[in-house]
Amino acid sequence: RQDKGRTILRARSSPILTMNRPHQPVRFDVIVIGAGAAGMMCAAEAGQRGRRVLIIDHATKLAEKIRISGGGRCNFTNLDVSVANYLSRNPQFCRSALARFTPGHFLERIQRHGIAWHERDHGQLFCDDSAQDIIDMLRAGCEDGHVEWAMPCEIRHITPGSDAAERFALDTSHGRFTCASLVVATGGLSIPKIGASPFGYKIAEQFGLPIVPPKPALVPLTLGPDELAIYKELAGMAFDAVAECGEGRFRENLLFTHRGLSGPVILQVSSYWQSRDYDAAPGATEGGSRIAVNLFPAEDVRAWLGERARGKTLLGNLLSDRLPKRFAHAWCDQRGWNKPINQFNGKELDAIAAALEGWTITPGGTLGYAKAEVTVGGVDTRALSSKTMEARSVPGLYFVGEVMDVTGHLGGYNFQWAWASGYAAGQAV
Ligand code: FDA
Repeated sequence: RQDKGRTILRARSSPILTMNRPHQPVRFDVIVIGAGAAGMMCAAEAGQRGRRVLIIDHATKLAEKIRISGGGRCNFTNLDVSVANYLSRNPQFCRSALARFTPGHFLERIQRHGIAWHERDHGQLFCDDSAQDIIDMLRAGCEDGHVEWAMPCEIRHITPGSDAAERFALDTSHGRFTCASLVVATGGLSIPKIGASPFGYKIAEQFGLPIVPPKPALVPLTLGPDELAIYKELAGMAFDAVAECGEGRFRENLLFTHRGLSGPVILQVSSYWQSRDYDAAPGATEGGSRIAVNLFPAEDVRAWLGERARGKTLLGNLLSDRLPKRFAHAWCDQRGWNKPINQFNGKELDAIAAALEGWTITPGGTLGYAKAEVTVGGVDTRALSSKTMEARSVPGLYFVGEVMDVTGHLGGYNFQWAWASGYAAGQAV
């Protein structure tokens, strides 16, 4: 539509808002930076409450992270969500928002929009067809709220404004905008090639808010040269295991790769793993630098060995009953345990059982943000209100989604946090 000298294109026709008078600031009630999961949720809620909302993103394509999520089918939530599914320096922070916008609320919207979905293991909910269905639903929500768009648009400066109606002024490649409420929804650092940036952390720093040091999470781990030499031959092999690191304990598949370890159980514990360098960073989250893997999660391994202790089978062959054969042999060779089982005495069997229950790995590192699903750390939530997501010391400044120090486990929890925090701020701005 034509609006006093500028052309504003609404969401359905195009996500691009064009300003013909770049020197004339345009006033909004709310500006949301980042048109991802949390940003669109927040913009739609605020718009539907009658706020005049502008959403800005520097990417050329809308919500790429949603599009590639869940292997293209978006694991959009989980049936069983609680604070225990999240890592944060402030573990109770997410409780209130998660209680006010639950997986059931999101599912209601999915059903209203006629999106077909299904449940997989561990309560994970996925689209039947495509993650694009979720993007279209969020975009339709923005359209219902008459949200305006500037995309792709670069934000050059943010300056504190003069009064409560114009608390922030943004200089951008589309001109100057002002707003009473500024919502930062710029996400984490994972997958920089589709638009991830540290801009949200910079805004927090500009306004004096603390940051918990970020690090890649839900990410494959690399092994040091000695262990890699033994295990890289096993790339592609997977088995059921329990892995523990710091306070994280998970049971799922472990996968060997050419560079180290992956599979859901490793992705899950990677969020708790930290290198010694990160350990030393001020304000770093607590975790461990070693991972303990139980290779026999389903049974009492000492009893299992005891029942077979009189046989003449090589230990490696015996373990091949429960573990992939090549792994069992490589693991026994590494320890010099390549005798028949009946040649081990009771103490040695105790040691073997302990090693099988607690195979200790010291990863060399991670595959970094290029391969990480999420970022642990971010804007320290102790500086924010858990009801509204507003900064306690900066009226009108809000943070939602992954930019904050709230990180979910694998399984739809990160999107549930994006929906819940976006909804909370959308009701408050
Ligand atoms: P999100 O990253 O979605 O959006 C941030 C937006 O900010 C982007 O559009 C970006 O372009 C924009 N932005 C950044 N810097 C900017 C700047 N300087 N100026 C303007 N705009 C800027 N989670 C889950 O629950 N289930 C799943 O199935 C998956 N699967 C998955 C797969 C893969 C490969 C990845 C990488 C991640 C997942 N995730 C996931 C995690 C999930 O995608 C993630 O937690 C949410 O998208 C976070 O939502 P946000 O809105 O906070 O950030």
